Amino acid sequence: MFFKVKGVCDNFFDMTYWNGVRKKIEAHLKQYNFSEIETPILEYVSLFERGLGYETDVVSKQMFVIQPKKDGKDDHICLRPEGTAGTMRAYLEQQAKIVSPFKIFSYGSMFRYERPQKGRLRQFHQMNLEVIGAQSIMHDASLIKMLYVLFLEQFEIENFVLRVNYLGQLQDRAEYTKALAEFLKAKSELLCQTCQTRLESNVLRVLDCKSGDCQNVINDSPDLFDYLSQESKDEWMQLQNTLHDLSVTFVHDPQLVRGLDYYNKTVFEFTSDALGAQSAFCGGGRYDGLAQQLGSKTEVPALGCAIGMERLLLILESKKASLSEEKNDLICIVPFSTEQQLLGLLLADSLQSKGRTVDVLLEDQKIKNKMKKAHNMGARTVLLLGEDEQKSNTVTVKDMLTGKEQVVPQSELEKVL
Ligand code: HAM
Repeated sequence: MFFKVKGVCDNFFDMTYWNGVRKKIEAHLKQYNFSEIETPILEYVSLFERGLGYETDVVSKQMFVIQPKKDGKDDHICLRPEGTAGTMRAYLEQQAKIVSPFKIFSYGSMFRYERPQKGRLRQFHQMNLEVIGAQSIMHDASLIKMLYVLFLEQFEIENFVLRVNYLGQLQDRAEYTKALAEFLKAKSELLCQTCQTRLESNVLRVLDCKSGDCQNVINDSPDLFDYLSQESKDEWMQLQNTLHDLSVTFVHDPQLVRGLDYYNKTVFEFTSDALGAQSAFCGGGRYDGLAQQLGSKTEVPALGCAIGMERLLLILESKKASLSEEKNDLICIVPFSTEQQLLGLLLADSLQSKGRTVDVLLEDQKIKNKMKKAHNMGARTVLLLGEDEQKSNTVTVKDMLTGKEQVVPQSELEKVL
C-alpha cells in the first residue's frame, strides 16, 4: 500500500463543490474584464529568490527544489510557491503584445514546504489575480472593492475582516525598515528566537509575530506613517477615502506587512475567525518594483492578490449544497444479460449524443444488485433491458423516485425521458 505525501490532498468526492466555487469566482472576474491565463508550475528557483526575496520564509525554508538544471546555466528548477513572480516573468517575455493594464487571473497548485495543519498544506490551490501596468492608486481601490463584492455579496460570507495597510514607496519603506531595525536591535533580548534571526534577515516580519513578548516591543516601535513622503501620505488618504466612498468596510492594520518582499504601498488581507490560526483566505497588494527586480529596464507598476481556495472552501462549507456545480440527472441502463449489452451501449450512445448523462451497468451481476448499485450511484431513472424488451424493441423505464415503471418503444425513449 502507498499513502499520499504529507500535506497534500486527494479530491475524490468534492469536485462539484470545488468547480462550483471556482466557476462562480471566474464568472465574477470576467464581469470585471479579467481574462484567464496559465503559467507553468515549474520555474527557476532564482525567479523567486530575486522576486520574493532571499530571506523570506517562502524562499529560504519552503521551496520544493526538484532538480539541478542541466542545460548549462547555473540555476535550479522548483515547484512554484506562488503565482505572481511567474506571471510577471511571463508578462515581461510577452510585453510587446500586451495592452496595459493587463487584468488577468490564473488558477492552479502552489507548493510550500510548511508544517501541515488545518488550512495549511504543502500543495494548495490559489486563484491568482494580477493587474499589470496599473499606476493609479484607484486600481487598488477597484481591486479591493471587486473582492469585497465577491466575498460579501456573491458568497455571502459572514464576519470576514478586511485588513489594509500602506507600506509607502520603496524609498519610504527602506527608511522605515532601517529605523525599525535600529529600534528592535536595541531590544533584541526581549524578542522571540525567530524574531531575533529576522532582525538580520527580514526585519519587517517582526511586526507580524504573534508572540506576546514581541507584541509588547512592537507596540512602542516607530510608526511607518512618520516615514512616508508627503506624496505617499496623500495617496494613502486617497485610498482610504475611495474605499469609504465605495462602501468598503476595512480596518487599518499598521502591522500588516505580508510575507513577500516585493510589496510596496498597498497591502491587504481578508481574514476569517472560522479558519483558526491560518485566518487569511485572500491576500495581496502592490508590487511596483518586481518587474525591475526581475530585470526589466523600466518600472511596471502592478498589483494583485491570491485567494487560497482550500481556505475559502472551508469557510463556505455550510453552503456546499447550493454552491456545488449542478449535475445532470443520471440515467442508468441495466441490461439483464450479455445479450442486451450491445443494445444498452447503443441506446446510451444515442442519449449521450443528446446531452444526457448515461451509464451502462455492464458487470455480470444479479438484476437486484444492479438496481441497488444504480440507487447508490444516485440514478434518477433506470432503463431495464431484458429479453422481452429486446424482442419488442421497447425499454422499461423506472422512475427511481416514485418507483413507477412504464414500457416505451425505443424510438420514443428520448421523448419520454
Ligand atoms: P500569500 O499570502 O502567500 O500571497 O498567499 C495567498 C493566499 O494563499 C493566502 O491568503 C492563503 O489563503 C493561501 N495560502 C498560502 N499558503 C498556503 C498553504 N500553505 N496552504 C493553504 N493555503 C495557503 C501570495 O501568494 C501572493 N502571490 C499573492 C499576490 C498576488 N500578491 C500580489 N499578487
